[in-house]
Amino acid sequence: MSKEVTTLYRAHKNQLAFHESIAPFKGFCGPVGSGKSLALVYEALKLAYENPGCMGLIGAPTYKMLMDVVQTHFFRELHLLGIEFDFHKQQNKLEFRDNGSTIIFRAVEEVDHLRGTNLAWFGLDEATYCRNGEYAWNQLLARLREPRATRKEGFAVFTPRGFDWVHDFFVARGNPEYQLFRASMLDNPALDKDYYERLAASYDEKLYRQEVYAEFLNIHSGHVYYAFSRDLHVPKDPVEPDPRLPIYWTLDFNISPACSVIAQVIDESTMVDRQLGHRKARINVIDEIYLKDARTPDVCEEFIDRLRKMKLSSSPIPLFLYGDASGRNRQRASNSEGAASDWDAIKYHLKNVTTPFVQPNYRVRARNQSIRDRVASVNKMLRSFSGDISMTIDKRCKHLIKDLESVSWAEGAYAVIDDRNKELTHMSDALSYLCDVEFGQSVGKTGYRSDITF
Ligand SMILES: Nc1ncnc2c1ncn2[C@@H]1O[C@H](COP(=O)(O)OP(=O)(O)OP(=O)(O)O)[C@@H](O)[C@H]1O
Ligand SMILES: [Mg+2]
Repeated sequence: MSKEVTTLYRAHKNQLAFHESIAPFKGFCGPVGSGKSLALVYEALKLAYENPGCMGLIGAPTYKMLMDVVQTHFFRELHLLGIEFDFHKQQNKLEFRDNGSTIIFRAVEEVDHLRGTNLAWFGLDEATYCRNGEYAWNQLLARLREPRATRKEGFAVFTPRGFDWVHDFFVARGNPEYQLFRASMLDNPALDKDYYERLAASYDEKLYRQEVYAEFLNIHSGHVYYAFSRDLHVPKDPVEPDPRLPIYWTLDFNISPACSVIAQVIDESTMVDRQLGHRKARINVIDEIYLKDARTPDVCEEFIDRLRKMKLSSSPIPLFLYGDASGRNRQRASNSEGAASDWDAIKYHLKNVTTPFVQPNYRVRARNQSIRDRVASVNKMLRSFSGDISMTIDKRCKHLIKDLESVSWAEGAYAVIDDRNKELTHMSDALSYLCDVEFGQSVGKTGYRSDITF
């Protein structure tokens, strides 16, 4: 590394240990925001200067991440350092003017197109989020054969994501050529003091341990709604509706059983919370609708019937609706005249209801979030890492309670729910749509990568 690099970049202790290691294969893992991408940039710069005239590669899971994160960091640091370079946009290639080294930037899907390329080094950002990461890593290893290179190296930075290939290469195999360095959440002086405290309130326990303690653990195995406990979430006394508050109705469009959950959201945010962009709210689940062989209009009728029995005081009753986004495209469970989709059937039905009057607001995503994100939002409401319990469920919701106690992850697949029991999963799915839209992770704020789908 040039002198300017070391004086400008104040690597923290663990970043420094990573840079100083002479192992041929190095991993740097740590919590969200702990300086992994910046470590990647400086490791790349170091290698570009140690191997003048040679080519290196920087990879990321998707093209978007490559552009938005890696290149943004990279160009900023080059400008700060005053390093002169040419960037060939079409080839996504950067050329250093002073020593003739080049860096090509590639999304991991593209590594197949590297035939004939000799690399001196390569580095992957967010290696655990790379689809076919192991294949890509092996492809890159085969390219690591630049004869002029004085220091060949492959490295990866990541947050752990279970016992995947990264864990296998860097931990389980115990290969002395592979060294792993770990950042801690206390490392990065650039982060606000309360950054990880905020995450503790918005992540469930497993997600927090993975993302903040950077632990390798199996989030997607065993019990899905592990944060649920009858003792904590199902009081002995009924969970009565508050007659002044809006009703939240969230649906899964399954025919048999058709499942939906009726709830209220109690917002406990103070003025100061709102000012700081924090939301403190609880969900009271007051009822569930479980109907066999039901079509959407039957479900609507049952819902209206339940509403009548609740004796709510406002008229019209504000109603917020959530549910499966794919209900926009199909009419799997509908038989209303002229209704093109399940959601159309609901709209049609609610328009014609007069006792009680309802004022529907549809809060349905254009596309469903992944199941792992929806599950994370339910678990976070059940019990956050900081111990907040933000959901209460009436004991009459027997199917929901059964789901929360029984649904498990499928073995041998990543983040797939075991749905072999056709009775299960629909009620908890229904609940997840509400939790996701109202309380799901926002990518920008928390760093949790729900923008990547598998
Ligand atoms: N050693 C350091 N000194 C000062 N600032 C740093 C240091 N390391 C990282 N930062 C800054 O901290 C912020 C987070 O760093 P970076 O993006 O590298 O973290 P990350 O672990 O890759 O985060 P994410 O998990 O969101 O991908 C950035 O603004 C970065 O410039
Ligand atoms: Mg990063």
